[in-house]
This record gives sequence, structure tokens and C-alpha cells, in this order.
Amino acid sequence: MLADDIGTNPKAQRVHECIARQFAKPEGIGGVAVAQVMRMINWLPYRGAIGLLDVKPTADLLEIGHGPGFGLAKLSRMASKGSVVGVDRSPTMRRLATATNANAVAQGSMLLKQGTFECLPLSDASVDGILAVNVLYFVDPISVALREARRVLRPGGTLCVYVTDKSHMSWLQFDGRETRQTFDEQSLHRLLRASDFGEDLIEIRKMWLPCRFRGLLAKVTKHG
Ligand SMILES: C[S@@+](CC[C@H](N)C(=O)[O-])C[C@H]1O[C@@H](n2cnc3c(N)ncnc32)[C@H](O)[C@@H]1O
Repeated sequence: MLADDIGTNPKAQRVHECIARQFAKPEGIGGVAVAQVMRMINWLPYRGAIGLLDVKPTADLLEIGHGPGFGLAKLSRMASKGSVVGVDRSPTMRRLATATNANAVAQGSMLLKQGTFECLPLSDASVDGILAVNVLYFVDPISVALREARRVLRPGGTLCVYVTDKSHMSWLQFDGRETRQTFDEQSLHRLLRASDFGEDLIEIRKMWLPCRFRGLLAKVTKHG
């Protein structure tokens, strides 16, 4: 389906809305199918965001909105003497990520919890790094989610966020009801500055991806 067709074809519109809902909260068999797509298309954003996290082998890490869990697997290999927690609001993604990371979960070095960005099920200052790839669009309100991220980070810890640029989200027509917000470089920077991270070190980089995808990577380091 081409993005240009969606606006004029009601059937294509319904399919597209269904896909958008699945990206926001993958559920059931449709969620498993969408997870395969994420696995294929999102490895480059993951590579960029994980690279910015600068993971030490002893680090305690959190991924929010982990989807099928291939990012968690990479984090777990890198933090081989630390720990990894995954939080996702979708029970289907929690199950899929558990299967993808069965060894680490069985060994106790990885813990997967159903929960939300807006109310993280972690204690204060408990992680060194947080990864959030393709999830910020769906959180509501973002100010509360960012406050939560800062709360669970240790001083000196880092939050790394990847989002696809607003212009590309709009071309893909992924800026409908399920998507609370999309970002360009300026709005992402403004939002982070206006959040509880306002006094912290904020860096934003552009990322060019295949198929005209344009992404943004944000790295925020909690002072301390
Ligand atoms: C588009 S998928 C991205 C999955 C994976 N990070 C990737 O890039 O392939 C968004 C994921 O974030 C989860 N999610 C969306 N909003 C969330 C929220 N407010 N709190 C926790 N998880 C959320 C969804 O359930 C889904 O698994």
C-alpha cells in the first residue's frame, strides 16, 4: 500500500488504521505480525540509539516500549554483568520478548514487566541507562513520562530516544488518532528542555535511514 493511496481508498484507510493501532499497542495475532515488521525495519534505529547509550558491562538498563524484544537481547549481551528490565504496556509484546530472551529471563538477568512509560514500575535511581525506540509518540502526557524516566535514572545516567521525524510520520500517515504527538528536531528539543530534564545535558542528532526514512536520536544525561 502506498501512502499516497491511503487518503482516497476507504478500504486502505481501514487497514492503515488497524496497522497504526497495532504499532501503538500490538495485540493478538495482528500484533505478532506487526512485531515481525518492527524486527525487519527497526534494527538501524536501534543500532543508533544503543550506540549513544554507551553501555558498560556492569550497567543496569531499562528499555521502555521494547516490542518483540530484539533490542533487549542486544542490551543484555552488552550489559553482561549488569541487568536489563523491559517495560511495555502490551501483554502480547511481553510474551514475545520473553520468548526472544528466554535464557536471560530464566537466569534472572532480565526482568520483563507489563507497565507504562507514564508510571514506571521501578524504584527511584535504579538504572544507568534507558532506551525508548519508537514509543514517545504514544505516551500521554509526555511530561509525566519524562518525569518518570528521570526519576528512575541514577545521576550521570542516560536516556536515549529514537523517533521518526514528523515529516516522514506525516507522509506515512502515522500521525492519526493513535499517535499522540510527532516531533521535528526543534519540537523534540523544546519538549525535553521544558521537561524535568530541562537542566540536564541534551543532544539531538539526525539519522538518515533507507527508504527516505528520517529519524531523530536524543541523548539526555541526568546531571549529578
Ligand atoms: C511502534 S512499537 C516499537 C517497538 C520497538 N521499540 C521497535 O522500535 O521495534 C511501540 C511499542 O511501545 C509500546 N508502548 C506504546 N505506548 C506505551 C506506553 N505509554 N508505555 C509503555 N509501552 C508503550 C507498545 O506496546 C509497543 O510495543
